[in-house]
Amino acid sequence: MAFRTIIEPFRIHSVEPLRMTTEGERRAAIADVGLNLFGLHATDVLIDLLTDSGTGAMSRDQWAAIQHGDESYAGSPSWYVFLDAVRELFPFRHVIPTHQGRAAEKILFTAIGGPGKVVPNNAHFDTTRANVEFTGAEAVDLPIPEALVPSLEHPFKGNMDVDALERLLTERGGDAVPAVFVTVTNNSGGGQPVSLANLRAVREVCSAFGVPLFLDACRFAENAWFIREREPEQSDRTVADIVREMASLADGMTMSAKKDPIANIGGWLALDDDDLADRCRSLLVLTEGFPTYGGLAGRDLEAIAQGLHEAVGHEYLRYRIRSTAYLGDALVHAGVPIVLPTGGHAVYIDARELLPHIPPLQYPGQALAVALYETGGVRGCEIGTVMFGRQPDGSEQPAAMDLVRLAIPRRTYTQSHIDYVIEVCAAVAERRSELHGLRMTFEPPALRHFTARFEPIR
Ligand SMILES: Cc1ncc(COP(=O)(O)O)c(C=O)c1O
Repeated sequence: MAFRTIIEPFRIHSVEPLRMTTEGERRAAIADVGLNLFGLHATDVLIDLLTDSGTGAMSRDQWAAIQHGDESYAGSPSWYVFLDAVRELFPFRHVIPTHQGRAAEKILFTAIGGPGKVVPNNAHFDTTRANVEFTGAEAVDLPIPEALVPSLEHPFKGNMDVDALERLLTERGGDAVPAVFVTVTNNSGGGQPVSLANLRAVREVCSAFGVPLFLDACRFAENAWFIREREPEQSDRTVADIVREMASLADGMTMSAKKDPIANIGGWLALDDDDLADRCRSLLVLTEGFPTYGGLAGRDLEAIAQGLHEAVGHEYLRYRIRSTAYLGDALVHAGVPIVLPTGGHAVYIDARELLPHIPPLQYPGQALAVALYETGGVRGCEIGTVMFGRQPDGSEQPAAMDLVRLAIPRRTYTQSHIDYVIEVCAAVAERRSELHGLRMTFEPPALRHFTARFEPIR
């Protein structure tokens, strides 16, 4: 390539204004909502890196596809457009559309979970863990040990610990494990990819114990791009081809279309098992809808189908992964510790390392996220002890890591927005010793990070 700069492979077609606020206004706004960034009015946020979920910019062709949406209750042509696009990449026998990823999780775990069952995963995402535990089953994370050392470089830090999986299956027996899950890329562990070699090894163990393997496939395209870039003998393959191999190793998948398919809403459950699919469809009609639309409008099905075609484009993925690394590289340069290497959809600041004076049970990740907002209007998300600290037995323990995730919405912000974020992070890091720990003053019974309230410990 003649030039080093990787530009956004699109130009801007319609724009949304950003509202500027002062530091004083932001301090008042966040104090008002108990120092919980989920409680803010989005218009009080300048650069919103809370999540990459449903926040991407749809393309001209997705908006055009929406106009083709057919809202027939049953058998809509939009359903078949969606089905073909999903099956092109994930050729499972049954595809069950849902309004988002957690609805697919809820349906699947209602069907296969329950007391006495255990579900291993390289790392459960919060909603996945909550849906497993809600049925009385146990959710066990089995990341490779390297995944728990933020500063350690590893090309596939999302890999599952295959020996630990084998041990768990031997100890608990295959009957206690209704499914093994692999999350690609691993969101809770830094947006890190899983290699094909690891997926193949997990598949072998699952087959030996007769246990189905499911993918939590939200970021399948970003994961496949990393495989193409980093795994020996994969660089000549298309991303679509790698995705099909990933799917061929699994018996099913749960999916949030709000991530790699660049839709604002949607998801699905796909699987090969006819009997399980029937049970899941019976649950689907109770809460989501008829099996040819699930929880979605025909126009959403069209947007997702078009987004799936765009998600595996190489120019798009090169820009996507490189622009996330641009933020990661700059933070390292500014002396801000992050999970290395930079993940696919987000940069994860290591708050425990940055703020060693704040103990994990005083929530260094939350304290840092609040400071980034107050200082520059940048909204990130704590992924640490607030999110994962409450144990099923009621005790509270430090999470494996205390991170602040800066998730990059797809095709939404430009390089100058990211340059601004870098400045804000560097400014907060500079006055790190002034940051205080937090105390939780309200805690809901489940998924506490969404609505908990905090006060500073001075
Ligand atoms: C890895 C992973 N699994 C599942 C989900 C849940 O998807 P949704 O938000 O569409 O319910 C998410 C959402 O962030 C995720 O990142």
